Amino acid sequence: MSLADFLAALDQLAAEAPGRIAAAGTLDEWTAARNALVGRQAGRLTDILAGLGALPKEDKREAGQRANAVKAVIEAALEARHAELAAAASAAGPALDRSMPARPRWRGAVHPVSLVIDEVVEIFRELGFTIALGPEAEHAWYNFGALNFPADHPAMDMHDTLYLGPDQVLRTHTSPVQVRTLQRYAPPIRVLAPGNVYRRDFFDPSHAPMFAQIEGLVVDEGVTFADLKATLSHFARRFFGPTTKTRFRPSFFPFTEPSAEMDVQCGVCGGAGCGVCKQSGWVEILGSGMVHPAVLEQAGLDSEKYTGWAFGMGPARTAISRHGIPDIRILYDADVRFLDQFAR
Ligand code: PHE
Repeated sequence: MSLADFLAALDQLAAEAPGRIAAAGTLDEWTAARNALVGRQAGRLTDILAGLGALPKEDKREAGQRANAVKAVIEAALEARHAELAAAASAAGPALDRSMPARPRWRGAVHPVSLVIDEVVEIFRELGFTIALGPEAEHAWYNFGALNFPADHPAMDMHDTLYLGPDQVLRTHTSPVQVRTLQRYAPPIRVLAPGNVYRRDFFDPSHAPMFAQIEGLVVDEGVTFADLKATLSHFARRFFGPTTKTRFRPSFFPFTEPSAEMDVQCGVCGGAGCGVCKQSGWVEILGSGMVHPAVLEQAGLDSEKYTGWAFGMGPARTAISRHGIPDIRILYDADVRFLDQFAR
């Protein structure tokens, strides 16, 4: 090989390189062009340089210098093209930004009313209560008659109760579970009956046509009003805190005698008076009373031998006063931003 052939090959490479580099439209094509031109394995320049050893000694210096000059020009052109292609790629934007933080996943949360029910059930479970359930579509007799409601009681009116048929109602309270329990089990009885109830009420800030109740029933020999007060006060201290004050106010239910409403000191204001307790300092938590002898006799129990007490509470009210929720309708809203506050 002569110096002239060597230089001619270099010139040809130098002439072809710019076109080859400019033709690379992507970074992958650029890599292929670089390998073809100056790649160490089978690049054109490497091939030409392989002929260097065969040149006469006095020509090697010039050949080497010319080869280095061509190499520098090609490499500068490659670098410039790479910068252009990289700039275009980043301007188009990455298809996927792997550095972006993941969106937190919705974990789900237990509804505040379900939380109250779970806690109440747990506290009474410690006292030996078991769970009893009854149907929501209930026979009118279980809902009213067996509970000693007189036939002309206003609760039985079509305006107050949702009738499914002449003798079937959507139960207006969980108290019919008392009757079903007394029919089915012999004393001693200690049951808790959580469930939904229905009334013809408007959906407003403090009413809903469907809501949950928790019924409690105790029947045994020698059960007194002192047991009722002690058990429900213990419950209030376990649920609302050890210093919680309770008060019992006389009330009336056809199926209990005597009857009492239990209030607890408002947990939001501590009894000073606020919007949640309507400035009274007290929040009504449940209705209760000694099981009426007529209810026991109706179920075939000797009311001289057995006595009992019962209560019914609304966990939604409890959830509302506990969290200071201003409108009961929020509890029925499917907005996960509300429920997310209760995620644990
Ligand atoms: N069932 C009554 C109501 O819905 C509450 C209650 C239950 C009262 C048990 C006394 C005993 O208001």
